[in-house]
Amino acid sequence: MATFSQQLTQRLTNALAELGLENTQQQSVPAVTAAADTRFGDYQANAAMALAKPLGKNPRELAAQIIGKMDVSGLCETPEVAGPGFINFRISAEAIAARVNNLASDERLGVEPESSTSRLLIDFSSPNVAKPMHIGHIRSTIIGDCLARIARFLGHDVIADNHIGDWGTPMGQVLYGWKNHLNEADFADNPIRELLRLYQLVKQQSDTDPDIAAKCLEETVKLQSGDPDNLSLWKEFIDITMSGAQDIYTRLDIHFDTTLGESFYDPHLKPLVEELLKEGIAGESDGAICIFSNNELEPKQDPLLVQRDGEWLPAPCMIRKKDGGFNYATTDIATIDYRVNELKADEILYVVDDRQSLHFRQLFEVARRRGISTSLRHVAFGKILGDDRKPFKTREGTVPALGDVLNEAVDRARRIVDEKNSELPEEEKQDIAEKIGVGAVKYAELSQARSSDYVFSWEKMLALQGNTAPYMINAYVRTRSIFRKLDTVPQYSLENIVISEDAERTMAMKLCQYAEVVPQVLVDYRPNLLATYLYELAQNFHSFYEQCPVLNAGEPSRCTRIALCDTASRVLRHGLSLLGICPPERM
Ligand code: ARG
Repeated sequence: MATFSQQLTQRLTNALAELGLENTQQQSVPAVTAAADTRFGDYQANAAMALAKPLGKNPRELAAQIIGKMDVSGLCETPEVAGPGFINFRISAEAIAARVNNLASDERLGVEPESSTSRLLIDFSSPNVAKPMHIGHIRSTIIGDCLARIARFLGHDVIADNHIGDWGTPMGQVLYGWKNHLNEADFADNPIRELLRLYQLVKQQSDTDPDIAAKCLEETVKLQSGDPDNLSLWKEFIDITMSGAQDIYTRLDIHFDTTLGESFYDPHLKPLVEELLKEGIAGESDGAICIFSNNELEPKQDPLLVQRDGEWLPAPCMIRKKDGGFNYATTDIATIDYRVNELKADEILYVVDDRQSLHFRQLFEVARRRGISTSLRHVAFGKILGDDRKPFKTREGTVPALGDVLNEAVDRARRIVDEKNSELPEEEKQDIAEKIGVGAVKYAELSQARSSDYVFSWEKMLALQGNTAPYMINAYVRTRSIFRKLDTVPQYSLENIVISEDAERTMAMKLCQYAEVVPQVLVDYRPNLLATYLYELAQNFHSFYEQCPVLNAGEPSRCTRIALCDTASRVLRHGLSLLGICPPERM
């Protein structure tokens, strides 16, 4: 079932062909898109403007010609020319009714699998050993999971990969801390907190004291050369970290297909560096091995150069330190090989904060130089800010742990449930609070533009009004309450869906557009497009519900409205599920 925008694009293409315009342009016909301002139509095309210019024609006249040739029967009213040459389309009530009728029997709610799909590896969450997941990991975990859900739904073969940080310098620091500063009682009480304390303590010491730094390095080297004591301690640290992380993943309903730590790639690092040296991609510099620019790219595009005082200077990517240790980048290069050759990925997304953007630009440049054609993309995101608009600190221990954030969200959601519906059974109230609380944390994240920083606010996140999970869940719950009052859901068919009221039309059109929005998310990896859509749908539903009685209406309105409520209910539930949110049936 083609979407309205696809159908309009097809008919526009036909009209252009009739006018002999399809071959004049190398580029394909610009698609018809949903109108930003629906007062003048539901969809808009700028084809006339795009085509008129190179032909030296008047865009408004060309638009009129196109309209003259365009067959819109069964789809929309006569299109109109607007402004400098836009063509506006208003879909007919019959076409909307027909699509709503189709949606009623379509499990996928009109969303077709993509015509070309790929094996898509998504690297997300990726916490570090000896550190509990903190609020900073929330963005990667929640955005990555949402992208994985949507990509799977659209037919891609998704590999969710948790690339945990379990190797390198920090491991030596925790080992040294364990051997010299362990508080056994605290460890017995809360192992992950004690590991974090040790890590932070020793990290600070070794930043200022070269002796301590040397001792930590010794521990790292011992671990990496297979010392049994260090190995078994290290395994314990991983177990502790991952069991804490797993509790959170379970609570968030997040699943990985592979969890390969950085350590997994260690055996490949030595030969990889040798290979890069042999190929002349890497070279020695001051005892270290680095990859320098080969000046193939424009300096501005080259991540291996940096501009200082008007001059372009080398910004090499280090892959082996002077002391022989390997770097974060070395592991990431080896990881690409594994993902491409063994996991057969043809696209890799890294859902990692934007402070690592230079690292990824360098990594992708190294991959390009090595002839790797797999599409690599850094899906970067900004910081979470506190009330003071300063970033939550990550290493100082002042950062709230993710588990605590979820607990508090659920406690606050529980207060809403107690106020709204205190007579529900205790167990159900707690289940609803969990769903709303966890949903609110996820939604607060996913409704933000990914690349900007955002301020973390309990009040905003849990407000019943506004672009929030509780607002959306409230709309869903309202749809469910209608169906609890119905003994039997009437069977609807094309004959008894008749769209007459504005509020019906607005909501019906929104429902028809679900299939246009979901694939858009993957174009630039922006879950907030789906969140915004659901917010608008929830608003449409609330105003529809206020203006249009459902169960007491006469036919065919009653049947039409039940069909609209049912579809709205399914789209809300499905859309929320793509965001990783499971709404309760009542609240
Ligand atoms: N463990 C890293 C961190 O917490 C993130 C890893 C991201 N993935 C990667 N392939 N580098 O900073």
